[in-house]
Amino acid sequence: MIVTTKELFAHAYGKYAIGAYNINNLEQTMGLFQGNVQSKAPFIVQLSKGARSYTHKLMLEAMMQTADKIFPEAIFAIHLDHGDEATCMDCIESGVYSSVMIDASAEPYEKNVEITRRVVEAAHAKGIVVEAEIGQLKGVEEDVVAAEHVYTKPEEAYRFVQDTGCDSLACAIGTSHGAFKFKGDQKLRFDILEQIQKLMPGYPLVMHGSSSVPQDEVARINAAGGAIKGASGVDATQFLGAAKLGVTKINIDTDGRLVWCRVHREFFRDHPEQFDLRGPGKIFMPEYAKFIAAKNELLGSAGQLDSVREYLKK
Ligand code: G3H
Ligand code: 13P
Ligand code: ZN
Repeated sequence: MIVTTKELFAHAYGKYAIGAYNINNLEQTMGLFQGNVQSKAPFIVQLSKGARSYTHKLMLEAMMQTADKIFPEAIFAIHLDHGDEATCMDCIESGVYSSVMIDASAEPYEKNVEITRRVVEAAHAKGIVVEAEIGQLKGVEEDVVAAEHVYTKPEEAYRFVQDTGCDSLACAIGTSHGAFKFKGDQKLRFDILEQIQKLMPGYPLVMHGSSSVPQDEVARINAAGGAIKGASGVDATQFLGAAKLGVTKINIDTDGRLVWCRVHREFFRDHPEQFDLRGPGKIFMPEYAKFIAAKNELLGSAGQLDSVREYLKK
Protein backbone atom coordinates (compact mmCIF):
# COMPACT_ATOMS: atom_id res chain seq x y z
CA MET A 1 0.00 0.00 0.00
CA ILE A 2 1.40 3.37 -1.05
CA VAL A 3 0.93 6.05 1.63
CA THR A 4 2.34 9.51 2.30
CA THR A 5 5.33 10.03 4.55
CA LYS A 6 3.10 12.29 6.66
CA GLU A 7 0.97 9.30 7.72
CA LEU A 8 4.06 7.23 8.50
CA PHE A 9 5.64 10.08 10.51
CA ALA A 10 2.50 10.62 12.58
CA HIS A 11 2.71 6.99 13.78
CA ALA A 12 6.47 7.02 14.32
CA TYR A 13 7.03 10.42 15.95
CA GLY A 14 9.07 10.28 19.15
CA LYS A 15 9.21 6.45 19.13
CA TYR A 16 11.13 5.20 16.11
CA ALA A 17 12.38 6.32 12.69
CA ILE A 18 11.36 5.10 9.24
CA GLY A 19 14.16 3.84 6.99
CA ALA A 20 14.37 5.78 3.73
CA TYR A 21 16.30 3.64 1.27
CA ASN A 22 17.67 4.79 -2.11
CA ILE A 23 17.34 2.27 -4.87
CA ASN A 24 18.30 2.21 -8.54
CA ASN A 25 17.47 -1.16 -10.02
CA LEU A 26 15.35 -4.30 -10.03
CA GLU A 27 17.49 -6.40 -7.69
CA GLN A 28 17.50 -3.63 -5.08
CA THR A 29 13.73 -3.25 -5.44
CA MET A 30 13.12 -6.95 -4.77
CA GLY A 31 15.54 -7.06 -1.82
CA LEU A 32 14.12 -3.86 -0.37
CA PHE A 33 10.52 -5.07 -0.37
CA GLN A 34 11.47 -8.54 0.87
CA GLY A 35 13.54 -7.11 3.72
CA ASN A 36 10.81 -4.76 4.88
CA VAL A 37 8.05 -7.35 4.65
CA GLN A 38 10.17 -9.94 6.49
CA SER A 39 10.96 -7.49 9.30
CA LYS A 40 7.38 -6.12 9.28
CA ALA A 41 8.47 -2.52 8.82
CA PRO A 42 6.88 0.47 7.09
CA PHE A 43 9.46 2.15 4.84
CA ILE A 44 10.22 4.87 2.30
CA VAL A 45 11.60 4.16 -1.17
CA GLN A 46 13.77 7.05 -2.27
CA LEU A 47 14.43 7.77 -5.92
CA SER A 48 17.11 10.35 -6.67
CA LYS A 49 17.49 12.35 -9.86
CA GLY A 50 20.46 10.13 -10.68
CA ALA A 51 18.39 6.98 -10.13
CA ARG A 52 15.62 8.35 -12.36
CA SER A 53 18.03 8.88 -15.24
CA TYR A 54 20.16 5.74 -14.69
CA THR A 55 17.77 3.61 -16.77
CA HIS A 56 14.55 5.57 -17.25
CA LYS A 57 12.25 7.29 -14.77
CA LEU A 58 9.25 5.38 -16.16
CA MET A 59 11.05 2.09 -15.61
CA LEU A 60 11.70 2.95 -11.96
CA GLU A 61 8.17 4.19 -11.39
CA ALA A 62 6.68 1.09 -12.99
CA MET A 63 8.88 -1.10 -10.78
CA MET A 64 7.52 0.64 -7.68
CA GLN A 65 3.93 0.15 -8.76
CA THR A 66 4.58 -3.48 -9.67
CA ALA A 67 6.32 -4.12 -6.34
CA ASP A 68 3.16 -2.84 -4.65
CA LYS A 69 1.27 -5.66 -6.41
CA ILE A 70 3.88 -8.34 -5.69
CA PHE A 71 4.05 -7.38 -1.99
CA PRO A 72 0.45 -6.47 -1.01
CA GLU A 73 1.36 -6.47 2.69
CA ALA A 74 4.01 -3.73 2.29
CA ILE A 75 3.23 -0.19 3.51
CA PHE A 76 5.52 2.39 1.97
CA ALA A 77 5.91 5.89 0.55
CA ILE A 78 7.46 6.67 -2.84
CA HIS A 79 9.68 9.71 -2.38
CA LEU A 80 11.83 11.88 -4.63
CA ASP A 81 15.21 12.43 -2.94
CA HIS A 82 17.02 15.80 -3.34
CA GLY A 83 14.83 17.18 -6.11
CA ASP A 84 15.23 20.49 -7.89
CA GLU A 85 12.05 22.40 -8.70
CA ALA A 86 11.58 20.96 -12.20
CA THR A 87 12.07 17.38 -11.03
CA CYS A 88 9.66 17.91 -8.13
CA MET A 89 7.02 19.22 -10.54
CA ASP A 90 7.58 16.25 -12.86
CA CYS A 91 7.15 13.80 -9.96
CA ILE A 92 4.05 15.62 -8.70
CA GLU A 93 2.54 15.37 -12.20
CA SER A 94 3.47 11.69 -12.57
CA GLY A 95 0.85 10.50 -10.08
CA VAL A 96 3.32 7.91 -8.74
CA TYR A 97 5.09 9.74 -5.91
CA SER A 98 3.42 10.30 -2.53
CA SER A 99 6.22 12.57 -1.33
CA VAL A 100 8.90 14.81 -2.83
CA MET A 101 11.97 16.52 -1.43
CA ILE A 102 12.77 19.98 -2.71
CA ASP A 103 16.40 20.70 -1.95
CA ALA A 104 17.11 24.39 -2.46
CA SER A 105 19.35 24.44 0.62
CA ALA A 106 22.31 25.84 -1.33
CA GLU A 107 20.27 28.98 -2.11
CA PRO A 108 20.04 32.01 0.21
CA TYR A 109 17.16 31.84 2.74
CA GLU A 110 14.62 33.91 0.78
CA LYS A 111 15.22 32.04 -2.48
CA ASN A 112 14.98 28.67 -0.68
CA VAL A 113 11.62 29.80 0.76
CA GLU A 114 10.37 31.02 -2.62
CA ILE A 115 11.20 27.76 -4.43
CA THR A 116 9.99 25.53 -1.59
CA ARG A 117 6.67 27.38 -1.38
CA ARG A 118 5.99 26.85 -5.08
CA VAL A 119 6.64 23.11 -4.72
CA VAL A 120 4.51 22.88 -1.55
CA GLU A 121 1.61 24.59 -3.30
CA ALA A 122 1.74 22.27 -6.32
CA ALA A 123 2.25 19.15 -4.20
CA HIS A 124 -0.48 19.86 -1.63
CA ALA A 125 -2.97 20.50 -4.43
CA LYS A 126 -2.49 16.82 -5.34
CA GLY A 127 -2.30 15.38 -1.81
CA ILE A 128 1.47 14.95 -2.01
CA VAL A 129 3.70 15.93 0.90
CA VAL A 130 6.97 17.84 0.81
CA GLU A 131 10.31 17.51 2.59
CA ALA A 132 12.56 20.57 2.38
CA GLU A 133 16.04 21.33 3.67
CA ILE A 134 17.72 24.11 5.54
CA GLY A 135 21.42 23.97 6.35
CA GLN A 136 23.85 21.99 4.21
CA LEU A 137 25.52 18.63 4.59
CA LYS A 138 29.25 18.63 3.88
CA GLY A 139 30.07 16.95 0.56
CA VAL A 140 28.01 16.36 -2.56
CA GLU A 141 24.19 16.53 -2.63
CA GLU A 142 23.19 15.65 -6.17
CA ASP A 143 24.89 18.44 -8.17
CA VAL A 144 25.69 20.77 -5.25
CA VAL A 145 28.98 20.65 -3.33
CA ALA A 146 29.45 22.11 0.18
CA ALA A 147 33.03 22.24 1.46
CA GLU A 148 32.01 22.46 5.14
CA HIS A 149 28.97 21.64 7.26
CA VAL A 150 26.47 24.49 7.39
CA TYR A 151 24.55 23.46 10.53
CA THR A 152 20.83 24.17 10.66
CA LYS A 153 19.99 27.12 12.90
CA PRO A 154 16.96 26.21 15.05
CA GLU A 155 15.26 29.62 14.89
CA GLU A 156 15.73 29.73 11.15
CA ALA A 157 14.30 26.20 10.85
CA TYR A 158 11.21 27.31 12.76
CA ARG A 159 10.77 30.39 10.56
CA PHE A 160 11.36 28.33 7.39
CA VAL A 161 8.58 25.88 8.26
CA GLN A 162 6.17 28.77 8.96
CA ASP A 163 7.21 30.52 5.73
CA THR A 164 6.95 27.49 3.45
CA GLY A 165 4.37 25.08 4.91
CA CYS A 166 6.70 22.13 4.21
CA ASP A 167 5.65 18.86 5.88
CA SER A 168 9.04 17.71 7.14
CA LEU A 169 12.49 19.22 7.36
CA ALA A 170 15.95 17.85 6.64
CA CYS A 171 18.39 19.31 9.15
CA ALA A 172 22.17 19.44 8.93
CA ILE A 173 23.57 18.14 12.24
CA GLY A 174 26.99 16.88 11.15
CA THR A 175 26.30 13.88 8.92
CA SER A 176 27.36 13.86 5.27
CA HIS A 177 26.63 11.76 2.22
CA GLY A 178 28.84 8.90 1.09
CA ALA A 179 31.36 6.57 2.72
CA PHE A 180 33.79 9.13 4.19
CA LYS A 181 31.84 10.97 6.87
CA PHE A 182 34.14 11.58 9.80
CA LYS A 183 37.85 12.17 10.21
CA GLY A 184 38.50 11.27 13.85
CA ASP A 185 35.66 11.40 16.38
CA GLN A 186 32.14 11.68 15.05
CA LYS A 187 30.21 14.64 16.35
CA LEU A 188 26.50 14.73 15.73
CA ARG A 189 24.83 17.93 16.92
CA PHE A 190 21.87 16.44 18.83
CA ASP A 191 21.67 19.79 20.63
CA ILE A 192 20.32 21.27 17.37
CA LEU A 193 17.58 18.60 17.23
CA GLU A 194 16.68 19.29 20.86
CA GLN A 195 16.31 23.00 20.21
CA ILE A 196 14.21 22.44 17.09
CA GLN A 197 11.98 20.01 18.97
CA LYS A 198 11.40 22.62 21.66
CA LEU A 199 10.38 25.16 19.03
CA MET A 200 8.27 22.70 17.00
CA PRO A 201 7.09 19.81 19.18
CA GLY A 202 5.61 17.04 17.04
CA TYR A 203 7.17 18.30 13.79
CA PRO A 204 8.95 15.55 11.79
CA LEU A 205 12.67 15.95 11.09
CA VAL A 206 14.85 14.08 8.61
CA MET A 207 18.43 12.90 8.96
CA HIS A 208 20.30 12.55 5.67
CA GLY A 209 23.74 10.96 5.29
CA SER A 210 23.01 8.26 7.85
CA SER A 211 24.82 5.20 6.51
CA SER A 212 26.97 3.41 9.05
CA VAL A 213 29.64 2.20 6.59
CA PRO A 214 30.26 -1.06 8.50
CA GLN A 215 33.98 -1.75 8.77
CA ASP A 216 33.55 -5.50 8.22
CA GLU A 217 31.77 -4.74 4.93
CA VAL A 218 34.58 -2.42 3.82
CA ALA A 219 37.19 -5.02 4.84
CA ARG A 220 35.45 -7.72 2.79
CA ILE A 221 35.29 -5.42 -0.25
CA ASN A 222 38.99 -4.61 0.08
CA ALA A 223 39.87 -8.30 0.57
CA ALA A 224 38.09 -9.01 -2.72
CA GLY A 225 40.06 -6.43 -4.70
CA GLY A 226 38.47 -3.14 -3.59
CA ALA A 227 40.43 -0.06 -2.53
CA ILE A 228 38.15 1.85 -0.13
CA LYS A 229 40.43 3.58 2.35
CA GLY A 230 39.54 5.64 5.43
CA ALA A 231 35.79 5.07 5.17
CA SER A 232 33.57 5.76 8.20
CA GLY A 233 29.88 6.28 8.96
CA VAL A 234 27.25 7.14 11.55
CA ASP A 235 26.96 5.06 14.72
CA ALA A 236 23.60 3.33 14.20
CA THR A 237 23.01 3.00 17.95
CA GLN A 238 22.25 6.75 17.83
CA PHE A 239 19.16 6.28 15.63
CA LEU A 240 16.72 5.77 18.48
CA GLY A 241 18.11 8.78 20.37
CA ALA A 242 17.55 10.88 17.26
CA ALA A 243 14.01 9.46 16.93
CA LYS A 244 13.16 10.63 20.46
CA LEU A 245 14.22 14.13 19.40
CA GLY A 246 11.80 14.18 16.46
CA VAL A 247 13.75 12.48 13.66
CA THR A 248 11.18 10.32 11.85
CA LYS A 249 13.08 9.60 8.60
CA ILE A 250 16.64 8.32 8.33
CA ASN A 251 18.24 8.21 4.87
CA ILE A 252 20.43 5.29 3.87
CA ASP A 253 22.00 4.78 0.46
CA THR A 254 25.75 4.17 0.77
CA ASP A 255 25.43 1.07 3.01
CA GLY A 256 23.25 -0.60 0.38
CA ARG A 257 25.84 0.16 -2.29
CA LEU A 258 28.50 -1.46 -0.12
CA VAL A 259 26.41 -4.65 0.12
CA TRP A 260 26.10 -4.68 -3.67
CA CYS A 261 29.82 -4.11 -4.12
CA ARG A 262 30.84 -6.81 -1.61
CA VAL A 263 28.52 -9.45 -3.11
CA HIS A 264 29.67 -8.82 -6.67
CA ARG A 265 33.38 -8.55 -5.89
CA GLU A 266 33.36 -11.75 -3.83
CA PHE A 267 31.28 -13.60 -6.41
CA PHE A 268 33.60 -12.90 -9.31
CA ARG A 269 36.72 -13.42 -7.18
CA ASP A 270 35.42 -16.86 -6.18
CA HIS A 271 33.98 -17.76 -9.60
CA PRO A 272 36.33 -16.18 -12.16
CA GLU A 273 35.00 -18.48 -14.88
CA GLN A 274 31.44 -17.13 -14.58
CA PHE A 275 29.81 -14.29 -16.49
CA ASP A 276 26.07 -14.74 -15.88
CA LEU A 277 24.72 -11.64 -14.10
CA ARG A 278 22.11 -13.78 -12.35
CA GLY A 279 24.79 -15.56 -10.33
CA PRO A 280 25.65 -12.58 -8.09
CA GLY A 281 22.10 -11.18 -8.46
CA LYS A 282 20.65 -14.28 -6.77
CA ILE A 283 23.01 -13.76 -3.84
CA PHE A 284 22.53 -9.99 -3.71
CA MET A 285 18.73 -9.93 -3.37
CA PRO A 286 18.52 -11.94 -0.10
CA GLU A 287 21.68 -10.23 1.22
CA TYR A 288 20.11 -6.83 0.60
CA ALA A 289 16.88 -8.01 2.25
CA LYS A 290 18.90 -9.15 5.30
CA PHE A 291 20.66 -5.78 5.42
CA ILE A 292 17.32 -3.89 5.30
CA ALA A 293 15.80 -6.05 8.04
CA ALA A 294 18.83 -5.50 10.31
CA LYS A 295 18.70 -1.73 9.70
CA ASN A 296 15.00 -1.67 10.59
CA GLU A 297 15.80 -3.27 13.97
CA LEU A 298 18.19 -0.39 14.70
CA LEU A 299 15.66 2.21 13.55
CA GLY A 300 12.93 0.67 15.70
CA SER A 301 10.66 0.36 12.64
CA ALA A 302 10.86 -3.46 12.60
CA GLY A 303 7.65 -5.02 13.90
CA GLN A 304 5.56 -1.83 13.47
CA LEU A 305 3.71 -2.87 10.30
CA ASP A 306 0.51 -4.25 11.89
CA SER A 307 0.24 -1.28 14.23
CA VAL A 308 0.69 1.12 11.27
CA ARG A 309 -2.01 -0.76 9.34
CA GLU A 310 -4.45 -0.37 12.24
CA TYR A 311 -3.49 3.30 12.63
CA LEU A 312 -4.18 3.98 8.95
CA LYS A 313 -7.69 2.51 9.23
CA LYS A 314 -8.71 5.14 11.82
O1 G3H B 1 21.94 12.03 -1.40
C1 G3H B 1 22.30 11.36 -2.34
C2 G3H B 1 21.86 9.96 -2.45
O2 G3H B 1 22.78 9.09 -1.84
C3 G3H B 1 21.58 9.61 -3.89
O3 G3H B 1 22.76 9.45 -4.59
O4 G3H B 1 22.44 11.04 -6.47
O5 G3H B 1 24.14 9.19 -6.61
O6 G3H B 1 21.69 8.67 -6.70
P1 G3H B 1 22.76 9.59 -6.20
P1 13P C 1 24.29 8.04 2.85
O1 13P C 1 25.26 8.42 1.80
O2 13P C 1 24.88 8.19 4.22
O3 13P C 1 23.73 6.68 2.66
O4 13P C 1 23.06 9.09 2.81
C1 13P C 1 22.03 8.95 1.85
C2 13P C 1 21.13 10.13 1.79
O5 13P C 1 21.13 11.01 2.61
C3 13P C 1 20.19 10.19 0.65
O6 13P C 1 19.47 11.36 0.61
ZN1 ZN D 1 20.50 13.09 1.27
